[in-house]
Amino acid sequence: MVHGVWLSPAALLFSASSRLPVAVSLKIFREEAGTATSLRVGSRLDKYRILRRLGEGGFATVYSAQDLVEDRKVALKIPDSRYVTNTQSLDDMQREVRIMARMEHPSVLPLKDARFINGHFVIVFPLGEETLADRLTRRLSRAAAMDYAVQMISAVAYAHEQSVLHRDIKPDNFILFPDQVIRLTDFGLARIEKGDHEISGSGTLGYCAPEQAMGKPTYRSDVFSLGLVIYRLFSGDVPEYPFDKLPSFNKLRRGLSKDFVDLIRKAIEPTPSKRFRDAVAMHNAMTKIRYPLTDRSVSLRGAAVTDAYTRRIA
Ligand SMILES: Nc1ncnc2c1ncn2[C@@H]1O[C@H](COP(=O)(O)OP(=O)(O)O)[C@@H](O)[C@H]1O
Ligand SMILES: [Mg+2]
Repeated sequence: MVHGVWLSPAALLFSASSRLPVAVSLKIFREEAGTATSLRVGSRLDKYRILRRLGEGGFATVYSAQDLVEDRKVALKIPDSRYVTNTQSLDDMQREVRIMARMEHPSVLPLKDARFINGHFVIVFPLGEETLADRLTRRLSRAAAMDYAVQMISAVAYAHEQSVLHRDIKPDNFILFPDQVIRLTDFGLARIEKGDHEISGSGTLGYCAPEQAMGKPTYRSDVFSLGLVIYRLFSGDVPEYPFDKLPSFNKLRRGLSKDFVDLIRKAIEPTPSKRFRDAVAMHNAMTKIRYPLTDRSVSLRGAAVTDAYTRRIA
């Protein structure tokens, strides 16, 4: 179910950690990056007409735009030109694109295209409706929240299966699409796991695991962040943080089965070794839960959800 144009297969041959190809292509970045000018609503970047500014993050701005050839809307993530001369952010940008180019999963936002246009480095994605953070400001039924939770766990499990640590799992980085589809994005801080951990305190405080805040992100810290987002999905709140003891589950218990509460509890254990070792293990535990809600009309193996569940998790 992947749409659009993907990076050339040649780009995929270069692993994010391989030195030479990165150095070569960074040279290309540098040579082309000089001419960037600021972007206004209504302006054109090749076949894209900028419609609206959607969000701004660490080093990039995200716009909605009309693809005038395909006649549909897209999201353009464009690193600010003032960062484009900085080797470190070029490296980050390139890594983000290459990681996303490898991802092919219905719950991970697909990359449509990435290239220079008029001196801007433009990363193109399908346009979603809003983020999970936006959605959380309105009431969400437990059944809908469960549908999202299942997809979110399967997205992170897929990333971990590909040896990718996300490191910035939070509601702003899940994008919603029609038919209750949710997709993980923003692999800007992601790393391909090689076993050795870099010492860097990246990740957003709030959903960040205690050990990640201390500079040691692992698969278990992604599990923690995911657990907190799911906790919030069902309670409306993030538990008071940083917490040494597990947060109160009273808010959660209403309507959730014991099995599912235990799953969340295990994901957000403050001690990393007590958590699921990665999202694959969390996902496996999830598939064993027959009834995640006390309302047994919602069954993860029942007819209504099976299709979504197996299709999205496979
Ligand atoms: N495909 C998309 N569709 C709709 N909005 C998006 C999309 N991608 C990003 N956004 C919006 O832009 C914001 C920033 O995008 P993100 O990829 O998370 O970059 P950053 O590194 O700047 O956080 C998101 O939180 C969201 O509000
Ligand atoms: Mg983001």
